[in-house]
Amino acid sequence: MKTIIEPFKIKSVEPIRFTTPEEREEVLRKGFYNLFLVRAEDVLIDLLTDSGTNAMSADQWAGMMRGDESYAGARSFYRFERKVRELTGFKHIIPTHQGRAAERILFSLTGGKGKVVPNNSHFDTTRANVEFSGAEAVDLPTAEGRDPELIADFKGNMDTGALETLIRKVGPGSIPLCMITVTNNSGGGQPVSLANIRETGAICKRHGIPLFLDACRFAENAYFIKMRERGYASVPVKEIVSEMFSLADGATMSAKKDAIVNMGGFLAMNDDALASGARNLLIVTEGFPTYGGLAGRDLEAIAQGLDEVLDERYLEYRIRSVAYLGERLAAAGVPILQPPGGHAVYLNASKFLPQITPDRYPGQSLVVELFRRGGIRSVEIGSVMFGRRGAGGEFIPARMELVRLAIPRRVYTQSHIDYVIEVVLECYENRARFPGYRIVEEPAMLRHFTAKFEPILR
Ligand code: F0G
Repeated sequence: MKTIIEPFKIKSVEPIRFTTPEEREEVLRKGFYNLFLVRAEDVLIDLLTDSGTNAMSADQWAGMMRGDESYAGARSFYRFERKVRELTGFKHIIPTHQGRAAERILFSLTGGKGKVVPNNSHFDTTRANVEFSGAEAVDLPTAEGRDPELIADFKGNMDTGALETLIRKVGPGSIPLCMITVTNNSGGGQPVSLANIRETGAICKRHGIPLFLDACRFAENAYFIKMRERGYASVPVKEIVSEMFSLADGATMSAKKDAIVNMGGFLAMNDDALASGARNLLIVTEGFPTYGGLAGRDLEAIAQGLDEVLDERYLEYRIRSVAYLGERLAAAGVPILQPPGGHAVYLNASKFLPQITPDRYPGQSLVVELFRRGGIRSVEIGSVMFGRRGAGGEFIPARMELVRLAIPRRVYTQSHIDYVIEVVLECYENRARFPGYRIVEEPAMLRHFTAKFEPILR
C-alpha cells in the first residue's frame, strides 16, 4: 500500500476549543500579539513546540502505574538505565528533569572563562548554558546548511574544515568538548550524516577532545540516515542509533522529544571522573542519582518511549507526515526552509512578507496572522528572538526570519495537518495586507517570551 497511515489508534481524546474570529482578535489584543502570552485553551492547533507535547502510548501509561517511587535504587531507575545503556552504550547514565539540566551540569564542570565549545548549531538553552559558565559557544554549520532554499540530504552537518581551523586557532586545550546536535534544531531540524559524525569524532580524537551528542531527536536523525545515506537503506534504525552513539564519548538528551514523554532527560558519558563530578552536582540541585529530578513513573515512561520511537513504522509516519506538510506548502509556492525537517516545517517569513523589513518583524506578523485566521500557534525564529541593538543603537537583524511549525508526536492527525495547510495558504493569498509590528515593552534577556507588540498600521 502507498498510503502511510498513523501507526496507532486513539483510545483517549482531548477536546480542542474552537473560537470565533472576534474571540481570537480579543485574545491577540490581550496577549499583546505575543503567542507565548496566550492561554493554551484559546489555541486550536498548537505547533509552538514538539517538546514535552507528545501523546504517550497505553504501554507508557501502564508504566506510569508500575513506577517505583523509592528514593534510592528504584526498580524504575534500573529499567531506565538499562534501556539508555542498551541504546547508547555509555557507561554512566544520569537522569535529569530535562535537557537543559543535563547541559547545566555538563558545562558547569567543563566550561568556564577562556573555554570554547563548538557545535554544528547550539540550541538556545545549550548556548545559554555554555555562556553562563563563562565559555564561548561557536556554531559551525556547513555552507549548505546556511542556504534556506537549497535541497540537500544532510544540511545539519558540522563544518569539519571550520572545526579544524578553530582547533588550530584556539588550541585543543581551550576546547573542553565538541558537540553535535541531532537533528540540528536551530538549523531547521536538518539531519547529520554518520559520515559527518565519524569525521568529527576522528578530528576530536586526534586532538584529545571529547565528542558529545545533543541527542534530543536521535531517532529522527537515524531514520534520515537510513533513508538518505549510502549503505544504510537496509540497516535497522536501532543499529544506526548504536553506531551514532558509538562515535561519541557522551550525550545530553531532552527526553521531551524522542523519548515521546512530557518531561525528562539524561546526561550520559564514559569518563569516570566527569561522571562522578556530575553526580555530585546532580545531588545539589536535581536529586539523588537514581531519580535526578524525575519521579519513578517518569523513568518508566521514558524507558518505554525509547523502545517505541525506534519502531520504523512510527518513524516512517513521523518523517513523512512532516514532509507532507512541507511539500504541500512548497507546491503552492509558499517559501519554506528546504527540505522539511524531522520535527518541524519552517516558513521563510522574509520571502513570505517581503514588504515587511526585518526591523518590523515579518516572522511575528506571520505568527499573529496564523492565529488570527486559523487559531494556529507557531513560533517566530527571527529578529524577535535573535535581533540585537548595536553599540550605536542600530538594529542588527537575525540571520534568517523564520516561523517554525513544530509537530507534536502522535498528537494531530492528517486532517489537522490539512487544516494547517489551508490556513497557511489563506495567509499566503492575503499576505500583501499584513502589517509589521513594533515592540512596545521588552525584558533585558530572552525577550521573545514576554515582549509586548503592537501592529504598525499606517
Ligand atoms: N537541545 C535541543 C536541540 C533542543 O531542541 C532543546 C529543546 C534542548 C536542547 C533543551 O531541552 O527543553 O528539555 O531543556 N528544545 C525545545 C524546542 C524547547 O522547542 O525546540 P529541554
